[in-house]
Amino acid sequence: MSITYKDEAGVAGMRLAGRLASEVLDHLTPLIQPGVTTLQIDQWAAAFMKEQGTTSATIGYQPSGYPPFPGHLCTSINHVICHGIPGDKVLKKGDIVNVDVTVIKDGWYGDTSRMFLIGGDASASIAAKRLCQVTYEAMWKGIVMVKPGVRLGDIGHAIQVFAEGNGYSVVREFCGHGIGQRFHEEPQVLHYGRPGTLEELKPGMTFTIEPMINAGKRDIKEMGDGWTIVTKDRSLSAQWEHTVLVTPTGYEVLTLSDGYPPLPDFAAPASAVAA
Ligand code: MF3
Ligand code: CO
Ligand code: CO
Repeated sequence: MSITYKDEAGVAGMRLAGRLASEVLDHLTPLIQPGVTTLQIDQWAAAFMKEQGTTSATIGYQPSGYPPFPGHLCTSINHVICHGIPGDKVLKKGDIVNVDVTVIKDGWYGDTSRMFLIGGDASASIAAKRLCQVTYEAMWKGIVMVKPGVRLGDIGHAIQVFAEGNGYSVVREFCGHGIGQRFHEEPQVLHYGRPGTLEELKPGMTFTIEPMINAGKRDIKEMGDGWTIVTKDRSLSAQWEHTVLVTPTGYEVLTLSDGYPPLPDFAAPASAVAA
């Protein structure tokens, strides 16, 4: 169990898996509406994965000490931070929901998540919209740091400074992760930290950046089901996730697709292809 560096074929496998994971979210986007249940979202995703020729990495996923995860994806609503289990909960106007999709294609994993404002922008509170937007930018603040020679502590620091500077807190118990032919590989990618510390990035590394940002305090609580993580103070929480490749000169985001939301201006396509 150590960091894996992807060669040309590995990068090709990761590119395909990453795009397909993002396309699951594109497919779900128009369906995620007031009145639908998170289990319906799960079932639509399962059917689409079948069409794509991918399989869900989450269904039956069982790290040691956990029960098998019962969903094809995770749905985390409002104060749920992560690992929400799809079920009979009905989405209503003004809810914010993270949908986190991990697919396997030809043995390679692609992992990505987005926030959805149920009922659209007009239904969301200003506080909820701001949290989702700041969390989106926090993820990208981390992504744009990625290049050889930079350390993981630099990435965590950039995310932490941005999130806390906006008055929010960063969840510490869960982090991004190396990914490849396994779901969770080394290294851990913390979303807080000190510049100049931890692993140095090298070309061929692939890992996720997936900050969980709380409107209130950072403390978490696990619900009784063995998976669902909520904010202890019940404040809103948001998360976005991409799978990223370290290139010889920068980064390539592997989990983009045609339906992906606009990039923040500091991460404009010109700087991404400079990679
Ligand atoms: N997709 C999550 C991640 O970003 C992990 C979900 S594990 C599950 O790492 F079992 F909860 F699905
Ligand atoms: Co992940
Ligand atoms: Co994920």
